[in-house]
Amino acid sequence: MFVSVLFSLGIFFSERSLSLALPNVQSDSSRAIFSSVTGILESTKSRTRSLSERGSINYNPDGTPFLWLPQDEYSGTSFYDRWNFFNHPDPTNFLDKKTAFDKALVSIDKDGTAIMKADDFTSLERGKFRDSIRIESIDKYTTGLFVLDLKRAPWGCAVWPAFWTVGSDWPWNGEIDIIEGVHDNEHNQVAWHTAPDCNINTTVGFSGSVTQAGGKAHTDCNAFIKSNAGCSITEWSRASYGPYFDSQGGGVFVMKWDENDISIWSFFRAAVPKDIIAGQPNPSLWGVPSARLHSSQCSINKFFKDHSIIFDITFCGDWAGNSYATSGCPDTCEDRLMNPKNFENATWSINSLKVYRKQVLAKGFTQVVSSAPGAYSKLPTWGVLFVGGFVICSMV
Ligand SMILES: *[C@@H]1O[C@H](CO)[C@@H](O)[C@H](O)[C@H]1NC(C)=O
Ligand SMILES: *[C@@H]1O[C@H](CO)[C@@H](O)[C@H](O)[C@H]1NC(C)=O
Repeated sequence: MFVSVLFSLGIFFSERSLSLALPNVQSDSSRAIFSSVTGILESTKSRTRSLSERGSINYNPDGTPFLWLPQDEYSGTSFYDRWNFFNHPDPTNFLDKKTAFDKALVSIDKDGTAIMKADDFTSLERGKFRDSIRIESIDKYTTGLFVLDLKRAPWGCAVWPAFWTVGSDWPWNGEIDIIEGVHDNEHNQVAWHTAPDCNINTTVGFSGSVTQAGGKAHTDCNAFIKSNAGCSITEWSRASYGPYFDSQGGGVFVMKWDENDISIWSFFRAAVPKDIIAGQPNPSLWGVPSARLHSSQCSINKFFKDHSIIFDITFCGDWAGNSYATSGCPDTCEDRLMNPKNFENATWSINSLKVYRKQVLAKGFTQVVSSAPGAYSKLPTWGVLFVGGFVICSMV
């Protein structure tokens, strides 16, 4: 009897199988077992449903289902706990952690916002470097969904901020520039820098435009050519960088990195999707990304690995320095550095940075999902089998 109960459970592992199996059950004791198994199944189902609601089921191009599940969160009073403060020599004077806190260039606001800013109170002599911050996550990531909620992002003449990720042994493990710009630009520029043989496929669907320079589109991500221009896409939204981004309350940037592609979405405050606000991000609901590097012309798994997350605020340098003369900003970049008031908007104001990891579900899961809406996963059903088997065995 019990053997046959176990056997039928083993054969029909879907929710439906229980109703098929139940009429064949004769004795009261096995009915009791079945109702307890059904009870476990019910509770597992609601747990699974809440799991899927938390992460929302997405699908790979081959139909394999997966969830984005919470992995890490950087926010509030613990925001600065898991970062290294980069303080190597650079034209910008990056501070170590203690000095950065002592000088209040990093702090946590009363409302829990993490602040990271340029020195906006010290007058400098010409040729001196201004203090600033560059932090790098101690944790390293290969793939993930990175959701950055910003109240403000840095901008201003001579200012060159970035939110980016990078692997060791540059550029062999890749670099992903999620937010980057200079001066009072209004359009964010997304870029990738890689080893040779990684290109943007321009027909995969994204709303930004491939950056042009000297009549050539920057589609080749090879860091060894064109002075490391990389491949890049400029966002269409005027509120994706600079004054308009800040004045309407900031917004959310998302970088999705998996084996299929690396995609970036940006949402100004009023357009942040509900699922992001609820902490259950579901990229399949967001439409085309602003920028996308697709695996058809760049093997994502080969070119990107073990990335630290970086925030920085740099001054002048390769981009802000070289573009200064044509930017419409006054005087020279060097002059600009002297007056601290010029850096009043050079501040990262971070509500949170959340990282979600991709949880691929069993292949067979696809049929369960497509044939029986409401039966969300095969994995917990196997758990039920195990628990059910245990209940049955212990009753024996
Ligand atoms: C670029 O993407 C399109 C659309 O997904 C695809 O049909 C095409 O084969 C890709 N191009 C290359 C060279 O892989
Ligand atoms: C900082 O932002 C405010 C508000 O947009 C603007 O009025 C001011 O000119 C900016 N300061 C600098 C130095 O760019």
